[in-house]
Amino acid sequence: MAGLYKKLRNFLAHPVESVRVMLGLPVEGTAAGRWEDVSNLRENWDERTIRIAGMIPPGAAVIEFGAGRLVLRDHLPAGCSYQPSDIADRGAGTIVCDLNQGFPALPGHYTHAVFSGVLEYIADIGGLVDSLKPHADTIIASYATIDRMPDLIKRKRRGWINHLSGEQFVAIFLERGFELSDSSEWKNQTIYVFRSAGRA
Ligand SMILES: C[S@@+](CC[C@H](N)C(=O)[O-])C[C@H]1O[C@@H](n2cnc3c(N)ncnc32)[C@H](O)[C@@H]1O
Repeated sequence: MAGLYKKLRNFLAHPVESVRVMLGLPVEGTAAGRWEDVSNLRENWDERTIRIAGMIPPGAAVIEFGAGRLVLRDHLPAGCSYQPSDIADRGAGTIVCDLNQGFPALPGHYTHAVFSGVLEYIADIGGLVDSLKPHADTIIASYATIDRMPDLIKRKRRGWINHLSGEQFVAIFLERGFELSDSSEWKNQTIYVFRSAGRA
């Protein structure tokens, strides 16, 4: 009942976005209403998050943007700290921020920043990396490149607002002083690990 009430409240607050998401039509810009509704956070993304957790060493200080259902927190190795951030409040001290509107004040320095299924929704990935760089040593980010997912209609239906090749995506990080230290495939997406050059 509470879930139904939340859905209705969400629909009334964001009617246009809600109808577009329901009809599978492209959503312009940031779909805040979509993301407030936790039923839009799919369990079949958990495998990707668990894979990313396996790339993080024990004792790491982790911040996750677009933290969703906080699945990463529950799969981190021993001794890690975890700071979630998202456009909607996910509990656990979430830093609430629309990354298309600005970058949040961060309370600490992080060894690892994670974006799992998030950067496709971001208008200015370069600006985001510029803002994040002083706060994180390593960035682990999944991305669905246009090389592996070329169907623009499908991309837009998912609400994705950028359409980069793998080369273009990696270049954004290299131009900002990161090195590509690893990449692996998950379904038709790539999981990249970028390390800030000059940091351990
Ligand atoms: C596809 S979901 C992925 C969720 C989670 N990382 C996972 O893999 O299960 C995208 C996530 O990014 C967040 N998000 C989307 N647009 C955002 C924005 N402009 N600023 C901050 N977070 C955003 C959503 O709220 C959601 O949690």
